[in-house]
Amino acid sequence: MAGNGFSDIFLVYEALPELNLDQVDISFNFLNKKLKAPLLINAMTGGHPDVKHINRSLARVASQTGIAMAVGSQTAGLEDSKVRDTYRVARDENSDGILLANVSALSSPVMVKEAIEMIEADGVQLHLNVAQELAMSEGDRNFSGTLANIEKIVALSKVPVIVKEVGFGLSRETFKKMYDVGVRYIDVSGQGGTDFIRIEYMRSGRDYQEKFQNIGISTAISLIESLSTDLPIFVFASGGFTGGSDVVCALALGAKLVGMAGHFLRAFTQGSEQGLKERVDTIIEDLRHTMLMVGAANLKELTGKPLVITGKTAEWLLRRGIDINKYSYPGHAENCSCRDYGGAIQK
Ligand SMILES: Cc1cc2nc3c(=O)[nH]c(=O)nc-3n(C[C@H](O)[C@H](O)[C@H](O)COP(=O)(O)O)c2cc1C
Repeated sequence: MAGNGFSDIFLVYEALPELNLDQVDISFNFLNKKLKAPLLINAMTGGHPDVKHINRSLARVASQTGIAMAVGSQTAGLEDSKVRDTYRVARDENSDGILLANVSALSSPVMVKEAIEMIEADGVQLHLNVAQELAMSEGDRNFSGTLANIEKIVALSKVPVIVKEVGFGLSRETFKKMYDVGVRYIDVSGQGGTDFIRIEYMRSGRDYQEKFQNIGISTAISLIESLSTDLPIFVFASGGFTGGSDVVCALALGAKLVGMAGHFLRAFTQGSEQGLKERVDTIIEDLRHTMLMVGAANLKELTGKPLVITGKTAEWLLRRGIDINKYSYPGHAENCSCRDYGGAIQK
């Protein structure tokens, strides 16, 4: 499937929104702090002196624009205290913002606690990356016990635990398994953006030859499969977002936050910190404009605006027995916990 699936999804335009752009409010409370927009600079970096400046800039932009940020995997910082400042800089630059720690879902609860303390994190992301590890010649091969480990971490963590993929998506079956062990925050991080199988093959000079084309779940499908479970989970959407109407579609379907990694990194490498800041500002402006075009004054109103799901995304979801016609009508999220913007679900 090409892209992250959002080119198959269309918002229904409202020519009579009866709203003033000034009224469109995209802020909400998350983890006891206020976000100015439902966006996340997703986990990318840290762990080497050469990348400290990237986390510094990402954090400054997150602070200036009022969006959330996650640091990259903290394994290097847990193993070597000398590189901890490459993560810590993100908290130093954004003392009041929402900052998420990041470790493997196979980490011990003690490591998770240390990663949280390293950056005074508001929450911790546990990443699942089976496809990426398998593509790395030096990667992990044993993934048994991951779910039981997640259960232990959720039970012991003092901050909310967010389980995320890294670009291959989640099925509703995986989503339910996580709910059953107590996970209440999940980032589907689906296929269609950063492709770690391709990256790892290229990194090691191996011939990729599109070997794994038929595996991986697009972001749009992962999100709708997850929402179809009707479970009270705070769902993040990420994977292949480029800003604009794909972000609005994800929020209208029921995602609470949209994460971007590759797109923000490209904006940073092409235009440095200022370029990234301008990109985030533009995405926020486009989000507000698109909300006006569908007649939504706030995020709660946006969730449930009609969307038409077409193409390969529709075909997949129908074959998986998911009712997609309901999304075509206003109010499809009437009884969905995804409309609960009163505060984040607590552990
Ligand atoms: C350069 C780079 C480094 C990443 N490092 C991490 C990481 O350390 N931990 C993690 O959970 N995800 C990591 N990711 C995955 C992203 O957080 C995200 O899940 C994935 O890239 C899909 O989003 P995208 O298509 O917007 O890039 C990384 C992504 C990129 C581009």
